[in-house]
Amino acid sequence: MKPIPELLSEMTLEEKASLLSGDDVWHTKAVERLGIPRVMVSDGPHGLRKEEDVPGQPGVRETIKAVCFPTACSSTASFDRDAVRRMGEALGEECQHEGVAVNLGPAINIKRSPLCGRNFEYMTEDPFLAGEMAVSLVQGIQSRDVGTSVKHFACNSQEHRRMSSDSTVDERTLREIYLPAYEAAAKRGKAWTFMCSYNRLNGEYASQNKRLLTELLRDEWGYEGLVMSDWGAVSDRVKGVPAGLDLEMPSSHGVNDAEIVRAVREGRLSEKDVDRCAERVLRLVERFTATARPDTPWDLDAHHALAAELAADCMVLLKNEGGLLPFAPGEKVAVIGEFAEKPRFQGGGSSHINCHQVTSLMDALEGMPGVTYAQGYRIDSDEADEALAAEALAAAKAADKALLVIGLPERDESEGFDRKHLRLPANQNALVEAVSRVNPNVAVLLYNGAPVEMPWVNCIRGLVEGYLAGQAVGLANKAVLWGEVNPSGRLPESFPLRLEDTPCSLSYGGEGDRAVYSEGVFVGYRYYTAKKQPVLFPFGAGGSYTTFAYSNLRLNHTEMDDTDTLRVEVDVTNTGSRPGKEVVQLYVAPHESRVFRPVRELKGFEKLSLAPGETKTAVFTLDKRAFAYWSVETHGWFVETGVFGIEICRSAEEVILSTPVTVRGTVPAPLTVTEDTIVEDLARYPAKFALLKKAVAALKNPDGAEAEAIGDNDVLDMDRYAPLRTLIAFGERMDHQRLGELIDAMNRV
Ligand code: BGC
Repeated sequence: MKPIPELLSEMTLEEKASLLSGDDVWHTKAVERLGIPRVMVSDGPHGLRKEEDVPGQPGVRETIKAVCFPTACSSTASFDRDAVRRMGEALGEECQHEGVAVNLGPAINIKRSPLCGRNFEYMTEDPFLAGEMAVSLVQGIQSRDVGTSVKHFACNSQEHRRMSSDSTVDERTLREIYLPAYEAAAKRGKAWTFMCSYNRLNGEYASQNKRLLTELLRDEWGYEGLVMSDWGAVSDRVKGVPAGLDLEMPSSHGVNDAEIVRAVREGRLSEKDVDRCAERVLRLVERFTATARPDTPWDLDAHHALAAELAADCMVLLKNEGGLLPFAPGEKVAVIGEFAEKPRFQGGGSSHINCHQVTSLMDALEGMPGVTYAQGYRIDSDEADEALAAEALAAAKAADKALLVIGLPERDESEGFDRKHLRLPANQNALVEAVSRVNPNVAVLLYNGAPVEMPWVNCIRGLVEGYLAGQAVGLANKAVLWGEVNPSGRLPESFPLRLEDTPCSLSYGGEGDRAVYSEGVFVGYRYYTAKKQPVLFPFGAGGSYTTFAYSNLRLNHTEMDDTDTLRVEVDVTNTGSRPGKEVVQLYVAPHESRVFRPVRELKGFEKLSLAPGETKTAVFTLDKRAFAYWSVETHGWFVETGVFGIEICRSAEEVILSTPVTVRGTVPAPLTVTEDTIVEDLARYPAKFALLKKAVAALKNPDGAEAEAIGDNDVLDMDRYAPLRTLIAFGERMDHQRLGELIDAMNRV
């Protein structure tokens, strides 16, 4: 390709406009006259869903065989940046092999409610965790010179009316909950592309939202990549161009290209804006074609093995009473449930991979002595099948232990619609209870992309959250359940007891197109901990077959400015007899604040691998952002001077070690004083407050009492909430002019 400035100067307006939408479902447009090739994009995010034309059948496409890695709900449960990065590297290699320029992921929308049909494809309810995992996946894929598309930007946390609903979110909630992962992916991940979401955000479609795509993403975060639309997300293409939407996907079949040309000709759209978008498309094309390596090998079997290894890292052990798990090789275990034979390991919709191989649990257990199998229920029905259930009970009775493999069928959970409830199919719930009545040693293995209610949780002794773990699911399950791998996953989301307990249960989905995020920053564990609302399992929960002891929590400061960085160290020892991995979680807990803040927020995590008896140190570095909230007064990150707990936790609800640090905010929040400013707010600004005291002293004693004669409390006690204008009402010698002079003086100091 010729240099981009040269190409742009040689292109006609029509040619430039043509670059601003796709050629077909998966390609950008070529401009053959100038030697500009087209490039291909493909889903994403946990595998390669590349569609190819079927030779001889025009218009018919087929998805190539590829490897389904653990879906995002699962891979995020690893809390393992390195594992996610390795998955990305493998994906990047697959894309190189297949000539795909951009893998359409990661999908990092915050899990606002467990009802979102697409939660299996999203990472977590926590913005910090989402950001870390997003950066790892982006860097992994892009290390192979293949782009990513960070999606769906932004606030697409429901499938219900996803193409028209208006996510109505206040500024602080946006900044603290819904945007930080994107910010990390843009700034640290340097994602090649972003994908805007279908929905509107605060009244404007994301695809034409200048505030989002330009002022925030580009001007503020310094993002230099391309923004494409979600498939069919464009409403007003002409408006989208200056707003910062570079590429409409999939295609408008020329309609919107012509609109763009017409708008430029009629003076409604600047050609410079068109050039800017075209330039970004050209940069993407150039970037990929310059480093395309179709000869990159792709060993599907090796990637299947990698998918198994990664999936094992993601299994979450939620219950293990009396050390029921792991099963010993040769132990008599009745495996029950059709999912053991026909696993659910990925979600429905655009991320659906055509797997080159699937290993179910029963495949993985083939030849394992002591293992029996009973189907127990039918996946395709919610109704109990008496014959299957009876067979399962007989198998459970005849075995030492029973493993029930249950989960959500695809009809309950998919892209395109939201769930209506959190229940598992009734036949599966009933079977767990029935089996636990005939055998006291029951473990449950779950396949689901989002939390479910577990009415039987007290009847069972072992529980593993298997999520949707990718095509090598059975190998990973066997490795964890039979003790070849020590489980080390942690829940990246809270599991509520009931749907009614969830923070947005009264407003999720919205009324018509208006979806108001009224719970604000209190999403997930931020809500449950503040509300002291019991949950089934908290965010961050997950066990191991070994035990870990924490000691020696130390900080490099006990007092610091918000411009300093805090180094936190804690020692972790494997006190059990098996090697294992521990996820060390660090939360920051503000002791008090003028704004409503969550009890604690995740600000660091490290996964340590420890041999029995071994001790390692987890090291964290916290900067201003770890202590700050988003101030709607300053429109910036703001640290309030005060004490913060540095908490090392086993989950969002279990603090193991805690120590305080005092952080001094170095930037005072600006206060513009008006007649309506109240006394308590002025008291936080000593210079302004001194002027007030002086004025009050003068009012009380016109013969010239000293300001110092008035104590802080003399002003605060009675009149804490009084606006300045009450000086006129209560102090005879004050009028608007004098008050105005006082206010001016206050605004000068
Ligand atoms: C989804 C995207 C996906 C695109 C292309 C859309 O419906 O929301 O996540 O990348 O389709 O398949």
